[in-house]
Amino acid sequence: MSIKDQYRIIEFGEYGDERGNLVVAECGGIDVPFDVKRVFYIYGSDSTIVRGRHANRRTHFVLINVAGSSKVKIDNGTETDIVELNRPRMGLYLPPMLWKDMYDFSPDSVLLVLASEHYDGNEYIRDYDEYLRMRQTPEQAVFSGKIRYCKDPDR
Ligand code: TYD
Repeated sequence: MSIKDQYRIIEFGEYGDERGNLVVAECGGIDVPFDVKRVFYIYGSDSTIVRGRHANRRTHFVLINVAGSSKVKIDNGTETDIVELNRPRMGLYLPPMLWKDMYDFSPDSVLLVLASEHYDGNEYIRDYDEYLRMRQTPEQAVFSGKIRYCKDPDR
C-alpha cells in the first residue's frame, strides 16, 4: 500500500459570510473519522523547530493549521511524503503507526490536533529504529485505512 493511501486530506465545510468565516469539523465519522477524546494545539514553534518525531500505537489524529502554516513529514518505514498544512479548512488524518515530524512552522502557526485517545506516553514510539522493527511485525503493520467516514469518496 502506497503511503498516499495511508493518510487522508480532509476538506472541512466552511460557512463564511460578511461576518467572517466559520469552519466545522463534525467528528465521529462525518468529517473526522473518530470520536475525539483529546484536543491540543501547538504554537510558538518556528522554522528551526522539528516536533513530533514519533509514531503512536493506537491513536488516530487529525491535524489542522487553524492559523499560519506548517509541514508534516509522514513516514511509513519505507516511504515518506510531505503535506503542507496552510488553510484552516484543511485537515490531515493520520492513523496509528505512521511516523511523523512537524516542522517549518510559520511565526503565526497554530496547529490544532484532534486525537482519538487520551494521552498515554506508553503508546508513543519515540525511537525510530524501534519503530522500524515494529513495522516488520504483521500485528503492528500500519493501519490499513479501513475506517470509512461519510465524506469518503470510496464509501
Ligand atoms: P510531545 O509529544 O513531545 O510533543 P510533540 O509531539 O509536539 O513533539 O509532548 C510535549 C510534552 O507534552 C510531553 O512532556 C508530553 C506532554 N503531552 C501531554 O501531557 N499530553 C498530550 O496530549 C501531549 C500531546 C503531550
